[in-house]
Amino acid sequence: MAGNINLHAANKAKKDEFYTQLVDIENELKHYKAHFKGKTVLCNCDDPRVSNFFHYFSYNFEQLGLKKLITTCYKNQNRDLFSQNDSERAIWLEYFGDRNGNRVPDPEEIGIHYFNGDGDFRSKECIELLKEADIVVTNPPFSLFREYMAQLMKYEKKFVIVGHQNAIGYREIFPLIRDNKVWLGYGFKGGAGHFFSKYEDVATAGDHREGMIRVSGVNWFTNLEIKKRHEDLILYKAYNPKEYPKFENYDAINVDKTADIPMDYNGVMGVPITFMDKYNPEQFEIIGLGIATLGLECGVQPYKPEHKKYRKEIQKRGTVDGDLYMNDRRRSYRTLFSNPHPPSPNRAPS
Ligand SMILES: C[S@@+](CC[C@H](N)C(=O)[O-])C[C@H]1O[C@@H](n2cnc3c(N)ncnc32)[C@H](O)[C@@H]1O
Repeated sequence: MAGNINLHAANKAKKDEFYTQLVDIENELKHYKAHFKGKTVLCNCDDPRVSNFFHYFSYNFEQLGLKKLITTCYKNQNRDLFSQNDSERAIWLEYFGDRNGNRVPDPEEIGIHYFNGDGDFRSKECIELLKEADIVVTNPPFSLFREYMAQLMKYEKKFVIVGHQNAIGYREIFPLIRDNKVWLGYGFKGGAGHFFSKYEDVATAGDHREGMIRVSGVNWFTNLEIKKRHEDLILYKAYNPKEYPKFENYDAINVDKTADIPMDYNGVMGVPITFMDKYNPEQFEIIGLGIATLGLECGVQPYKPEHKKYRKEIQKRGTVDGDLYMNDRRRSYRTLFSNPHPPSPNRAPS
């Protein structure tokens, strides 16, 4: 039993203990600069002695015109000494800018405070600091992403946080995205990031970087306005029923790639979840996501018995299950195809 618990703890740590590069933080946050003026920023999964989020905001404190920076750090009982500064207690600090000239901010000099508890972002002590914050910026533990987001929503905070693209499909997260309460930021180059980690990397040789792991499918989640979200996706393909067959279990056409969204189709379309990266709410409306209960909620029908045996094959193609259903806002919402189409030869035959 103890072995199981340790294994679980190690797996969780492996999922959560990786650290963001300064360059990735800079690349994303350069698009948000105007939001920070006069604001209190909280980084609440960040040891100021090692976190590049603390470094970014403390170095750029004056340039961004921040009011205050708060950083809090979790004392993970299972923490396995990634940080050389691993202390016995959870710490936090607050920074009001460099009042002593142009020195590089040093956490010890700024003054480290100790929590009574473990610095869990959900603890009362941390929530008191959260209440003070205008904008929360960090890379939180992926294993607690749902709870982390729920807390930000509960306290109505603005945020820019790193998360995995899979989180878009979480039952708790997808409705926030569908209802335009949360959207994706600019993201990592090629949809993958390198993070500092002591764990073994699975990246291919060409992509391997010493002391780092490559995490694919990472993105930034935010509720701060950014230009990208208002940029139209340029469409160039024309609809034809052969190239865009209808789903068996939903009244929508299948679009294999976001770039292939037809410019002249008046109805619901199923696109891969990666479409979210190009989503502009003035151009498109998200209807739902064809996964499990989220799918049932937006009317995706269960497979007919005769199609079940093809399910795996269809899933491999990345269509039907897990597709995102969305409409083009600037055209009629109603699908032109009111009669069910015969199944295409490419998909599940009846
Ligand atoms: C993905 S790492 C990122 C660390 C840092 N924000 C960065 O980007 O370099 C997530 C961090 O959250 C910490 N963490 C795990 N559980 C936590 C909790 N319940 N409350 C606060 N922090 C937690 C982990 O110890 C880990 O350092």
